[in-house]
Amino acid sequence: MSGEEEKEAVKQYIADLKKKIHYHDYRYYVLNEPEISDAEYDRLFKELEELESEYPELVTRDSPTQRVGAKPLDEFGTYEHSIPLLSLNSVSDEREIRDFDERVRKFLVGAEEEIEYVVEPKIDGLAMELVYEKGVLSVGSTRGDGKTGEEITQNLRTIKTIPLRIFSGADAGAPLPLLEVRGEVFIPVSKFKELNAELGAKGEKMFANPRNAAAGSVRQLDPRVTASRPLDFFAYGVGRAERKEFSTQWEVLGYLRRIGFKVSPLIRRFGNIKDVIGYHEEVKKKRDELDYEIDGIVVKVNSIEQQERLGAISRSPRWAIAYKFPAREEFTSVKNIVVQVGRTGALTPVAVLEPVQIGGVTVSRATLHNEDELRKKDVRIGDTVVVERAGDVIPEVVSVIKSKRTGAEKEFRMPDRCPVCGAEVLKEGPIVRCIGVSCIAQLKERIKHFASLRAMNVEGLGEKVIEQLVDRKMVSDAADLFFLTNSDLLKLERMGSKSAQNILNAIEKSKHTTFSQLIHALGIRHVGEHTASLLADNFRDVEALRDASYEDLVGIPEIGPEVAKSVLLFFEQGSTKELLKKLERAEVWYEKKEAGLVEEEKAKKVLEGKTFVFTGRISMPREEAKSVVERLGGKVASSVSKKTDYVVAGEEAGSKLEKADKLGVKIIDEGEFREMVTLPS
Ligand code: IVH
Repeated sequence: MSGEEEKEAVKQYIADLKKKIHYHDYRYYVLNEPEISDAEYDRLFKELEELESEYPELVTRDSPTQRVGAKPLDEFGTYEHSIPLLSLNSVSDEREIRDFDERVRKFLVGAEEEIEYVVEPKIDGLAMELVYEKGVLSVGSTRGDGKTGEEITQNLRTIKTIPLRIFSGADAGAPLPLLEVRGEVFIPVSKFKELNAELGAKGEKMFANPRNAAAGSVRQLDPRVTASRPLDFFAYGVGRAERKEFSTQWEVLGYLRRIGFKVSPLIRRFGNIKDVIGYHEEVKKKRDELDYEIDGIVVKVNSIEQQERLGAISRSPRWAIAYKFPAREEFTSVKNIVVQVGRTGALTPVAVLEPVQIGGVTVSRATLHNEDELRKKDVRIGDTVVVERAGDVIPEVVSVIKSKRTGAEKEFRMPDRCPVCGAEVLKEGPIVRCIGVSCIAQLKERIKHFASLRAMNVEGLGEKVIEQLVDRKMVSDAADLFFLTNSDLLKLERMGSKSAQNILNAIEKSKHTTFSQLIHALGIRHVGEHTASLLADNFRDVEALRDASYEDLVGIPEIGPEVAKSVLLFFEQGSTKELLKKLERAEVWYEKKEAGLVEEEKAKKVLEGKTFVFTGRISMPREEAKSVVERLGGKVASSVSKKTDYVVAGEEAGSKLEKADKLGVKIIDEGEFREMVTLPS
């Protein structure tokens, strides 16, 4: 192959690799249905990174390796939207939405014509516009005032559900010369909670709700910070679309989905307003189950021709409206402020409230997070406050209505000893922590965490039972749960033999778990569900994790010094050793990593120190062969010398073969090579 040809082949290979990675990103992030393991994905990604570092001239803007690349900015530029992003008028009850329908019908005189509505959830995030030129993302901006927004391209590029290149081909058609996609950036509720916990632990400012967290993350001047935030994107509309005519909103949504965007699965089409109202009820009920916040539904006239006739008044279209859900905020008063001790000893101030209904749930306690937050909001006993309950997030006090103060309110001071065990407390940044090693409150929380759904999932083992078990000294750590007997449980209050048996069965069943859930259950500080699954992907079993060094841990992408130190510290504790012994004795088990992967890890070094030279034509691209050798610890050279260990001879091999022969270097064919690196032939 000539240099030119080889370069062309590498270029093609890289293009295929990028396409594969884009596809797997789509399966993973958009559809939530990965087709390959994380390890396989990492291999593809690493291969691309290596090829790109070898051929920097072949790096393109749409490469998946280029999501985070740019340097921090001093400030954002502005971006003029070619078609303004409108806002929506909103209504909150049935009469008003019927009025909207009336107005639409009246306006479209003739009124005999059919009107169809598309209903979408109203995502509580931030509106964005993405410009694609010939299928490649070129500019991303915020809505701003509708006419001018901020240019935040490099931040939006870090969001995995925003395609850097939109799909084309079979059902997506050719890429348009120009396409503007509109949608909402948000942070899923579960990820918001993790993020806040992380920020809180580091002593950084927490966010009041997922929307603020999304806003704060997307407007970071350093795109690396944005990349570390769990942002997501739902597309719901288009601006300019050159060489494409849409006749309905439904068609727009279908198209967006086909070209690789995440479109809400909750979108529906209805022929009358009554069904729209029914659907509003239905979505309202589902609201708490969703992992993203919605504050209502958006009702849009489906026909674009009708939309055009309806037009807009000032900045809101006549053809669309937000039909809101009841607020998640309520006023109430603070009866008392108490302190809760968490499983890591953190003391959290909690407001005891005059019970109040928020979105169908009675709320009687709300978190005040920590002393700094409490001071900043200046919450006092007796205050009237605004309380918010978002999704399944713990309710929190948002603000104090200071105008309602009478002067009788009492300030609260954090205790300087643990209110439960009396041990001293230590202040770490904004967090006050009980350092008592045998603090009953911590133990209770650790066991509650251990048994919880996303950890060992011991079904039906409620908080009250755990508290009694600890108070009666029937368990001294989480593993003791596995040694409880029927007669133990029967000693507890309000425990019948049937419930006792159910609990024992659930405990027994929980013994079979996944490695990642087990790690999560251990309750290592800074190791939430996500980090637990990273660790599970990188170690074969608990023993391997226990023996990991600091370097092993920080070598894992996404694992930083803080987590690494915390893992090491955890396994050094005598109580951990005790716990692990008991878990083993209880025969807790989980699938170890697939044999194949572990084998491969062992195999990793099989080519250590070996040098290969390729000659002639083999059936895989040279670059692929090279990266396989390197992955297994070997090297590839371009010419044969005494240092060469193997010459791989393909078809029409030339002078290198003669040289190898002369020097006595071992010559193998492609089949032997494949066997050596365990590739199927
Ligand atoms: S359509 C003309 N659709 O709500 C239509 N907006 O005040 C304008 N939003 O700024 C927007 N989900 O941030 C539309 N499915 C959806 C939406 C949605 C959330 C937000 C968006 C916009 C605001 C409207």
